[in-house]
Amino acid sequence: MTLLIRNLSQIATPLGRAPVRGGAMRRLSIHDDAVIIVSDGRFAFVGREADINSDLRAAIDHDFDARGATALPGFIDSHTHLPFAGYRETEFNRRLQGETYEQIAASGGGIASSVHATRQASQEELVGNVLARAGTMARYGTTTAEAKSGYGLTLDAERKQLRAIRDANERSPVRLIPTCLAAHDFPPESRDSAAARRGYVSAIIGEILPAVAEEKLAVFCDVFVERGVFTSEEGDAVLRAGAALGLIPRMHADELSDTDGASLAATLGCASADHLMQVSDSGIAALAASSTVANLLPATSFFLMSERYAPARKLINAGAVVSLSTDCNPGTSMTESMPMVMQLATLQMKMTVEESLTAATLNGAHSLRIAHETGSIEAGKRADLVLLDAPNYLHLVYHFGVNLVTRVMRDGVWVV
Ligand code: NIG
Ligand code: FE
Repeated sequence: MTLLIRNLSQIATPLGRAPVRGGAMRRLSIHDDAVIIVSDGRFAFVGREADINSDLRAAIDHDFDARGATALPGFIDSHTHLPFAGYRETEFNRRLQGETYEQIAASGGGIASSVHATRQASQEELVGNVLARAGTMARYGTTTAEAKSGYGLTLDAERKQLRAIRDANERSPVRLIPTCLAAHDFPPESRDSAAARRGYVSAIIGEILPAVAEEKLAVFCDVFVERGVFTSEEGDAVLRAGAALGLIPRMHADELSDTDGASLAATLGCASADHLMQVSDSGIAALAASSTVANLLPATSFFLMSERYAPARKLINAGAVVSLSTDCNPGTSMTESMPMVMQLATLQMKMTVEESLTAATLNGAHSLRIAHETGSIEAGKRADLVLLDAPNYLHLVYHFGVNLVTRVMRDGVWVV
């Protein structure tokens, strides 16, 4: 099938198959009078209708009137905790009344409460949860999402979460890319002694990661390096063990405290260092000198009611590759909306709209190792796109708090 999408007000997209840094993040390709041709699931042409060659013109067998919509690349959400059971709205309400995230975690809530609920859920229930959230993501323009385990914290429960992602991916409107985050926290039963904690790290390295790699349940491996959670040494050991099994490392780094996680992520060649609310100047320099993507999650700062956002301007000005994601999870960021994240990135972190769009598409795709396939609207790439009910891309941020997405295409198929 060869589809002509015409009557677009605008097409706005970053270009290329490589990550974009610094001033180049502001450079979008903008067509105000152009069409898109999709053939066999890929973009076959982007440009002025008059420039379509005769062979391609003859192949067009379907026509779509976009009625003045703006086309953007499908959003890439490169950090989510999708397969969870249960919600934490009562903890949220306690936070609204003054308790902190850490106080709630110390009293048995936090990650532990999601671990409890997720362990109780069947694999089928988790598949249903993932599909429901993926449906919401798609309605807000996401076409690819990374999805982490990390609410199981035993071999069986981590595997159940990753199998749920695998099964959901067969029916999901959003392409799902799995990450094993067995090192999200210490399981409740291994918290009490240093020996028990060491035992859990050994189990991750000796049992969980090998089983996950053997069954090809994950592409990436992640660790929450944080004061009171995993130390840098433990993070280093887990990620090296994962890499030896073919699992590409990523890291939750410098979220609630500065543990020099960004430098460790860069040294290990992580695909991304995520959060970075507390990153130091030396951590920024280390990321800028590396190809590790600084993945910023401003919805988490917003939802935690923190004044502290990741230093996006410093990271971009230093030359780091910056991406944006939701961090969708029941404790610190209960949202599937990438437009919301781009609104926070601009209004709170002072990124430009153009930088935010590059971060939410091409740079996120790079961190998931799929920038050669998606992340921009250009001939040869998978046809993943969003239509906005808006005259141009600026409305994505300018017209905030509402959903402007009217249609979403993934691999050449309308999924919304
Ligand atoms: O990315 N940082 C660690 N993990 C999550 C929070 C998980 C939770 O509270 O359930 C995050 O913010
Ligand atoms: Fe996270």
